[in-house]
Amino acid sequence: MEKIEIETEIRTMPRIGDEAPKFTAVTTQGEINFPDDYTGEWVILFSHPADFTPVCTSEFITFASLEEKFANANCKLVGLSIDGLYSHIAWLRTIKEKIEFNGMKNVEVKFPLIEDITMDVAKKYGMIQPGESKTQAVRAVFFIDPKGIVRAIIYYPLSLGRNFDEIYRALIAMQTADTFNVATPADWNPGDDVIVSPAGSCGVAEERMKNTDDLDCKDWFFCTKKLDKNEVFKKVLKK
Ligand code: BEZ
Repeated sequence: MEKIEIETEIRTMPRIGDEAPKFTAVTTQGEINFPDDYTGEWVILFSHPADFTPVCTSEFITFASLEEKFANANCKLVGLSIDGLYSHIAWLRTIKEKIEFNGMKNVEVKFPLIEDITMDVAKKYGMIQPGESKTQAVRAVFFIDPKGIVRAIIYYPLSLGRNFDEIYRALIAMQTADTFNVATPADWNPGDDVIVSPAGSCGVAEERMKNTDDLDCKDWFFCTKKLDKNEVFKKVLKK
């Protein structure tokens, strides 16, 4: 019975559209109240398996180097692993002092890294996936919007380092969808055509097939339009 309860607790995870589960935590930047401290901005909560491991180190160097770029898109970063505060501090100091990766060196990780020895936060967010590891968090990425709603989730196994271009692309694509009321097609990047919401009536479907100036409809349900890269950046980036 107890085993079933533990398994159920570990398996619970927020889903897209849910309010991000609340917690307070000790981090390398002091205590945080999540997600309330981030109301009004996007926040990416991500987990990694353990401090002092090579894939995680390469990810932290990369994410820390991109911190300003994410901040310019109104997005903060928060990391987590099932390690203690002093381990986090020692690891971040070692990264800055000794580790060079892909030409990046002397990198200071300024975003908060949560200590989660109790696994409370990791369990709340479904970051423990026992088939992969019972003691280490998988590589999870939660995108949480300015209202505290989970908007996208990506999971990677322990051995696979994340693609940070994709994480940034997903953030900008969601902001673009919100701002311009459009959807973004496969492999979309700013400057590419966007998808117009599908026709909701026979009349609109008929209109769509007339291919007005700003719409390009391949069929009544598949219409795209141009959206200038500069217009996207002007609306979603701070500078
Ligand atoms: C790493 O970050 O290098 C790593 C962590 C856990 C398992 C495998 C690799």
